[in-house]
Amino acid sequence: MRKQALLFLAAATTLVLACNNPKTGDAINMKYSITEKPFGVFENEPVTQYTIANPSGMQVSIINYGGTLTNIITPDKDKKPGDVILGFDSLAGYLQKGNPYFGCLVGRYGNRIAKGKFSLNGQSYQITVNNNGNMLHGGVRGLDKVLWKATKLAGDSSLQLTYTSKDGDQGFPGNLAITVVYTVTTDNSLKIEYSATTDKATPVNLTNHAYFNLSAGKEPTILNHELAIQAEYYTEVDTLLIPTGKLPEVKGTPMDFRTAKPIGRDLAAVKGGYDHNWVLNKAIPGLEKVATVYDPSSGRVLEVLTTEPGLQFYTGNFLDSTLTGKYSRVYGQHAALCLETQHFPDSPNQPGFPSTTLHPGETYHHLTVYRFSVK
Ligand code: GLA
Repeated sequence: MRKQALLFLAAATTLVLACNNPKTGDAINMKYSITEKPFGVFENEPVTQYTIANPSGMQVSIINYGGTLTNIITPDKDKKPGDVILGFDSLAGYLQKGNPYFGCLVGRYGNRIAKGKFSLNGQSYQITVNNNGNMLHGGVRGLDKVLWKATKLAGDSSLQLTYTSKDGDQGFPGNLAITVVYTVTTDNSLKIEYSATTDKATPVNLTNHAYFNLSAGKEPTILNHELAIQAEYYTEVDTLLIPTGKLPEVKGTPMDFRTAKPIGRDLAAVKGGYDHNWVLNKAIPGLEKVATVYDPSSGRVLEVLTTEPGLQFYTGNFLDSTLTGKYSRVYGQHAALCLETQHFPDSPNQPGFPSTTLHPGETYHHLTVYRFSVK
């Protein structure tokens, strides 16, 4: 009897997997897949590109160098697929000096630590500095510049990446064992789950640095994209983008994205362009929707959900047409935007900010979802 029931279930599943799309009548592949392709060699080790495809027309490609997202392909309002992130065709592109962190995993500390210095438990630490005398995105050789171990998980919708950053790496204390899982779901979401453990207290702030342009090449900039951010405050910064500790209100300023507006509307009033951390109106550490982007030219919508307290919104201010990426596209200023879910910049030196210290015995958790749709 049980066997019969199982056989019935198997037959029903096959039927579902091979069914027709009720709207178009086309046969659709209801299965997930992960394919692999060689993507060059880094420090004598092969680099592989993994592509996760879902049954709803989304494809996400990731390389184990830097845990980098190289492609996110989603349908537009006419069901035409397009690649909505910036990146390169080959590993050489990612290895070149001046690669502005396209699509990579960022750590151990995303964003800036003033002068690369902090103290913890009465001890001072000096992290390698790489940005006007400050530490940016984990220092000289951050997690974006190392090879991760990749494992395809059962179900063919998730790729797991692991890396252990050794005690003293870039100056950070403790052996930090990190796991990141990229999952594509049927509703065209990309889920990124980060976890880490340490054997000494250390700051941890992991994120991803995808550069989105939802028009997939139709629009040279994101200035017509409309953005909403659920935040009343942002972290004020000095000229080197180090927080002053003040949290001004966004209300009535160019930083006000509480209701959606085109990114280009007030951009000129922000010196250098947007490159700030918004203080999200959310309970910590629940998963909540914190931002929505809409591109009228393609109809694509990107919703960002996160467990993190902050969001760095960056308008590609430093892109200057010197980089040519996939599809021979030249990346000029504001060609894309980043929405980096994170703890606030320089938290190890800001007692008023939520703590980024991970202690032995604890597990760091961060979940971010980039959900794509059309309207
Ligand atoms: C982050 C920073 C920016 C810039 C980019 C990378 O978004 O906040 O200032 O450094 O990364 O170019």
